Amino acid sequence: MQYSEKVMDHFTNPRNVGEIENADGVGMVGNAKCGDIMKMYLKIEGDVIVDCKFKTFGCGAAIATSSMATELIKGKTIEEALKLTNQVVVEALEGLPPVKVHCSVLAEEAVKTAVADYYTKIGKPVDFVIEKSHDDHDGK
Ligand code: FES
Repeated sequence: MQYSEKVMDHFTNPRNVGEIENADGVGMVGNAKCGDIMKMYLKIEGDVIVDCKFKTFGCGAAIATSSMATELIKGKTIEEALKLTNQVVVEALEGLPPVKVHCSVLAEEAVKTAVADYYTKIGKPVDFVIEKSHDDHDGK
């Protein structure tokens, strides 16, 4: 399997790893088939994501995509973060092998789930759809 340099970089040196205490939004998602789990923490001020951290127990592509996703949404508004699709993450990583595309869906799902958690906390209706990472892949 061929990974881009960007993927290898974010896998071996992931950005924004960790947790945020008293995060404003937390999203935990998983893919039942491969068993990978991703947890995303957001610190929000006004409508800006001022900080963002993640913990991923999963494959290299899941770690690289969550790392890239945090880089892409940090400092952005919630509205901008909700526009982050897995495709954007994959492009920023200069591609992923087809069998690994679901790992990037997990990153998109984690960000949106964390925003949904924040909306629920502040009593705002969740008015967007969270695409689920598909189970139909062969794992590893
Ligand atoms: Fe399932 Fe990467 S998240 S193999």
